[in-house]
Amino acid sequence: MRNFFGKSVAVGAIAMLALTACGSGRDDETKPGSNGGSEKGFAANSLIGVALPAKTSENWVLAGDLFTNGLKEAGFTADVQYAGASTTVADQQAQITAMTTKGAKVIVVGATDAAQLSTQIAAAHKAGAKVIAYDRLILNTPDLDYYVAFDNFKVGQLQGQALLDGLKKKKAKGPWTIELFSGSPDDNNAGVFFKGAMDVLQPEIDKKNIVVGSGQTDVKQTAIQGWKAEGAQARMDQLLTSTYGSKELDGVLSPNDTLARAIIQSIKSRNKPVPVVTGQDSEVESVKSIMAGEQYMTINKDTRNLVKETINMVKALQAGNEPQINDTKSYNNGTKVVPTYLLPPVAVTKDNAAEAYANDPKLAPLTK
Ligand code: BGC
Repeated sequence: MRNFFGKSVAVGAIAMLALTACGSGRDDETKPGSNGGSEKGFAANSLIGVALPAKTSENWVLAGDLFTNGLKEAGFTADVQYAGASTTVADQQAQITAMTTKGAKVIVVGATDAAQLSTQIAAAHKAGAKVIAYDRLILNTPDLDYYVAFDNFKVGQLQGQALLDGLKKKKAKGPWTIELFSGSPDDNNAGVFFKGAMDVLQPEIDKKNIVVGSGQTDVKQTAIQGWKAEGAQARMDQLLTSTYGSKELDGVLSPNDTLARAIIQSIKSRNKPVPVVTGQDSEVESVKSIMAGEQYMTINKDTRNLVKETINMVKALQAGNEPQINDTKSYNNGTKVVPTYLLPPVAVTKDNAAEAYANDPKLAPLTK
């Protein structure tokens, strides 16, 4: 109930802020509100900031281009920035501050570090910008207005279920021996993906149908800092040495495609058979690997749809309307429950790849 009331108060406060901010705007365009009222948004060609993390996976590269083009097409002025590869947190903090100074009306953030942006977000909010968390939640701030993402818990559940299905296909009867990997601890998604996967896998571990060979089942033990491929490869190398001299490895829970390919590479370099390996993001090389029968599965989170929904939110705010949200309970950022728009992720194996990517001109040809 605390969350529920927290959310209501927060949404009310946002509406108040919107009215106050618009009332004092000089060059704001007047548009009727969604409810037929006289709320105002902001000028149609306003600056919209997009602060993305380092390009740790293909989806971020795609998102940058889609935001630049999509915002421009919608008539906005776009400022799309990526955090650098090494000093990601400081870079992103500085970029958000610069966007605020330049007068951005909305700042979309794909957080490099979920817990280290509250100061910059507070300043942006104070200056009158709306803040949207894109794909990754921003923690411990009352100043985050909206969150738009694929259902991250569901992503984890789909990975866990696919791993289990794949293991059963590989060997009809358990126990199956697996290893668990998770993403970067500074990305809130990493823990949510892992929880979703363990929601499916833990009961099987409890029943001893699944054995985690190394015994490393804690999210901290399985984490790969910065979502770095080399980190996953190094951990897999270590696990193979410590645990899989003669023992067979049946499956690996990998949180995304970049790490999945690094894990597969580590295993292949020892001339071991490739186990059932999960992934996420539908990266080109992983879709090829799936079609070649190597990586077992990935998740389709069509970046085009996520960016489109985000731009829809920006358009609604510009027009002085409340953006569409479809979840008001799942994402508590430690301070408030953030009004969220969630999109459904889809699990993809070789069996349904053609269908899953039918509308994706880049991936569809790979499934023929
Ligand atoms: C995204 C994943 C991505 C990962 C690494 C996560 O926050 O949701 O799609 O694989 O970051 O870039």
